[in-house]
Amino acid sequence: MKKMIYDGDPGIDDAMAIILAIKSGVLDLKAITTVAGNVPLEKATKNALKILNLTKRLDIPVAAGMPSPLVRELLTSGPIHGEDGLGGTKLPLPITEDKCIGALDLTIAKILNRPGEFTVVACGPLTNLAEIYSKLPDFGEKVNDLVIMGGAINVPGNVSPHAEFNIYGDPEAAQIILQSDLPITLVPLDVTMKTILTPDDLEQIYEVRTPVAEFAYNALKYYQNVPKHKKLGGCPLHDPLAVGVAIDESFVKTRELYVNVVTDNIITLGKTLVGEENRGELEVCASKHKVCLEVDVRRFIRFFIDTITAD
Ligand code: BDR
Ligand code: CA
Repeated sequence: MKKMIYDGDPGIDDAMAIILAIKSGVLDLKAITTVAGNVPLEKATKNALKILNLTKRLDIPVAAGMPSPLVRELLTSGPIHGEDGLGGTKLPLPITEDKCIGALDLTIAKILNRPGEFTVVACGPLTNLAEIYSKLPDFGEKVNDLVIMGGAINVPGNVSPHAEFNIYGDPEAAQIILQSDLPITLVPLDVTMKTILTPDDLEQIYEVRTPVAEFAYNALKYYQNVPKHKKLGGCPLHDPLAVGVAIDESFVKTRELYVNVVTDNIITLGKTLVGEENRGELEVCASKHKVCLEVDVRRFIRFFIDTITAD
């Protein structure tokens, strides 16, 4: 099994991504680290614990990371994920002991213990990763791969016409990470906006009466019904697709591109810029990254439904 660390801001689709990782049988989830994003840090951390309680995996450590972006004010995603961040599903919060270790130290300790063996999947603003990279400049050699849900290449953004939420949430952190030589696979809106879970798909989850399927049904029902998603005919599986790519890269087709982020223009703030050559705005980029631009939609949706409804 592939050792993995999930860094994110749960969030309904983060919750689904964590469940997908746990139930995949391919990924060995060794830690969840949280970051402020969809919801404030404390809520994101509680939500991660609620999901581990639901999946009976409280053996997996959870550690809180950065409570706000590197230089900007925190931007949460408001009603899209519900007041609790999990669509009002009222999952119980387990009683756990404080492990007294933060997200940055936990990730660094795990990775240094097993250099080259970890896949990190990042599905929130990249604040924690930027901090880790500043403490561990050879992070790129220590990690096997880093799958990031973020960016919008040839499609409009979802928080502004130009920018995607995770990149816009902390553009300076995203810039540090994307300009680096880390072994990145970027999973942008170009592919995640195609993996739409429809109401018909959701009915298949409803038919299964496990606690996990019941939670998934209720949370995804909420997520489908927010006005922004109703217009799409279903909800996008952003973060689950990033986990899907970590499980099986053949769900997507990628191109090797340099990627940079706009941080100095109020109109295009958080836009992901790409190119084949490191010239102009891309001159500062240390290496190309794999950017997902096509996805086998129905195969991924089938895999998602089958995996989260499995016993
Ligand atoms: C990303 O933003 C968040 O709202 C989701 O959890 C996902 O990580 C999509 O733009
Ligand atoms: Ca997320």
